[in-house]
Order: sequence, then C-alpha cells, then structure tokens
Amino acid sequence: MKFFIDTADIAEIRELVATGLVDGVTTNPSLAAKTGKNFLDLVAEICEVVEGPVSAEVTATDLDTMLKEAAVLRKIANNVVIKVPLIPSGLRACKALSDEGVKVNVTLCFSPVQALLAAKTGASFISPFVGRLDDIAVEGMGLIEDIVTIYGNYGYETEILVASVRHPMHILEAARMGADVVTMPAKTLHQLYTHPLTDKGLKAFLDDWEKTGQSILGD
Ligand code: E4P
Repeated sequence: MKFFIDTADIAEIRELVATGLVDGVTTNPSLAAKTGKNFLDLVAEICEVVEGPVSAEVTATDLDTMLKEAAVLRKIANNVVIKVPLIPSGLRACKALSDEGVKVNVTLCFSPVQALLAAKTGASFISPFVGRLDDIAVEGMGLIEDIVTIYGNYGYETEILVASVRHPMHILEAARMGADVVTMPAKTLHQLYTHPLTDKGLKAFLDDWEKTGQSILGD
C-alpha cells in the first residue's frame, strides 16, 4: 500500500519524507491557499523534495482552461499528477490528458458510479473522500469497498487513492480492502506509530538494561 501525504506544508513534507514512508503528496486548492505561497512555486518546491507523484489541482471548471492550466502544471516537474474535479469537463480533461500519457487524479469522488466514470476516462488515480462522507453519516469506507469490487470486476488499472482520511481506522480498513493508496494528514501518519504496549514494553526493556550497567558501545 502506498502512503501519500495530504498537505502543502513544505516543512511538514520534508519531515515526513525523512521517515522513508512517503510515496507521494496530494494537494488541493484549500491546502495551497493555507500556505500563502505562489502555487506554481509551491508545487515546484514539493516536487524537489518528493520523488513520487505530486497531485496539483486545476482551478478552472471549463475544459479549455483546465487543459491550459494542466499544461502549465505539467511543465513544473515530471512527477506532477494533474488533479481534476469529478465533473463532466473534468472527466473530458482526464480523457484528453490520459490519452496523451499524462497521469490524472480525479478528485471529489463520492459515489461508486462516479469512480466508474473516472476509470473509463483513463484516470491514473481516483480519490474517493471517505471522511467527508462520514461527516454526513454515510459510511465512507463502504464507497471504497464498492470501488474495489467494481474495478476488480473489469480489471481497471486506475489506482484507488483513499482521501479525506481522518484517523488510523480509515487506513486499516483501506488496507484490508486492498486499496492502492491512502493520502493522509501528517497527524494521522504520526498516529500510526503509536501503541501503548510498545511504549510500556520499551520502558521495561530499558529499565532492565540500565540495571546491568552495561553499554553496547563499551563506553
Ligand atoms: C485529497 O486529495 C484531498 O486533498 C483531501 O484528502 C481532502 O481531505 P479533507 O476532507 O480532510 O479536506
């Protein structure tokens, strides 16, 4: 399973890339706006730090302007993935770009049939938003289960990129279902390390070791 981080904060990205756990980055216009930086500079900076796919979203809603924006974003670096919203013009852009061999991430997916459309237009990634569904009392992970089944039925190669992740249970369930990628905020990645028995066990080991008075380095 690939781990992407869902942030445009470059300091956070640097810190998490150093863990060796990060396979890519997803951004969106809201995350980019929070940084207060020039968007193109920001994407370039992220692409320097991250080797894997970096999703950068178009902000137009008409096909022609989306394609023009995609052309600008693609020039920034080879690992830029063009993110388009799941609307008719976004899917037309997805088809046009995918036909040219450009990787596209179709975002704002909230239903299995939307995911089917994205696969049919050649998306490299589909981003179903599980947390935002949970927020309105619709089981977000049920959507992932449906997409896994549908894509499996037809052998679609579009990668299922579980987005709007809010907590480790989303990641556990996504992994059980065989989703390809999860994109998560830094906080959730940190939460994955934690187990009280790890802390308790380590403390006991170190306390017992200290009693021996030894040092492995022989100091
Ligand atoms: C995905 O690409 C989106 O940027 C993201 O996961 C949205 O998450 P949110 O619902 O927490 O804003």
